[in-house]
Amino acid sequence: MRVLSNEKIALNIYSLTFESTALLLESLPGQFVNINVDGEDSPFFRRPFSIADVSQDSVEIIYEVIGAGTWILSTMAAGDSIDIIGPLGEGYDLNFSGSKSILIGGGVGIPPLMFLYNKMKEQGIELQFLAGFKSVAHNYIPRRITNVQYSSDDGSLGTKGYVTDLLTESLLNNEVKHIYACGPEPMLRKVIEIADENEIRCSVSVEKVFGCGTGICMGCVIENSLKRFTETGRKYSLVCMEGPVFDSGDVNL
Ligand SMILES: Cc1cc2nc3c(=O)[nH]c(=O)nc-3n(C[C@H](O)[C@H](O)[C@H](O)COP(=O)(O)OP(=O)(O)OC[C@H]3O[C@@H](n4cnc5c(N)ncnc54)[C@H](O)[C@@H]3O)c2cc1C
Ligand code: FES
Repeated sequence: MRVLSNEKIALNIYSLTFESTALLLESLPGQFVNINVDGEDSPFFRRPFSIADVSQDSVEIIYEVIGAGTWILSTMAAGDSIDIIGPLGEGYDLNFSGSKSILIGGGVGIPPLMFLYNKMKEQGIELQFLAGFKSVAHNYIPRRITNVQYSSDDGSLGTKGYVTDLLTESLLNNEVKHIYACGPEPMLRKVIEIADENEIRCSVSVEKVFGCGTGICMGCVIENSLKRFTETGRKYSLVCMEGPVFDSGDVNL
């Protein structure tokens, strides 16, 4: 695909857009693309990135530069070609019940929730968006996404502390039917604990380190819950094929 833009939008964080296709236009929030970042020998494996938005004309990913692959990606410019497979994986269930939902994300776990936000807004779903960042310098959420409640590690944006504290607070005042989460595993574990305590359905997008990203290498397994083990007879699921989005009751994080 042809790169359309690649811009720094926050500290170490970039937004890259590339041409869309009919197939990518069908992407669901939570699905990802697997990118060959085009180093000569290394990185050997493609790198997975959640789809942050899709239109007729373009697809957006938002990524943090953390190693060789993402550094190479950050050097790409409009007009360059980029080798992409996607959409891959299972996304969030879009059969919204019309009831109030909370979207909660941390750091670069937020892009799939931005895509989900767009889909929910299209359908008029009432939602609250909770976003946690290390600091204000890491915030890349565009202004068109309104009513976001922020937390940050250093207090420079929103409330100082964990984004899961905002979740606990929100649930005191609101009747919520579904929580959609994406972020680091410790955050997801806490979200699941809070959802369980409040008996709220919860969908989590899990970001394991992937090898192939297409179900071949078995490098991305996650342990199934007893419930899913009983249903499937399998102790593990592949995050790249059966996820990254799971019902929180199906997995042991
Ligand atoms: C389904 C999925 C969706 C993702 N979506 C996004 C996204 O929207 N935006 C984004 O910035 N990143 C996302 N990631 C993470 C992204 O794929 C990695 O940051 C990227 O592959 C790192 O490549 P690299 O070559 O720059 O770093 P590497 O040199 O491969 O790794 C640098 C360091 O980061 C660690 N690391 C690598 N991958 C991950 C990971 N998945 N989780 C935690 N630590 C990791 C490595 O262990 C190493 O310590 C996603 C991952 C998955 C599995
Ligand atoms: S990353 Fe290879 S099977 Fe999932």
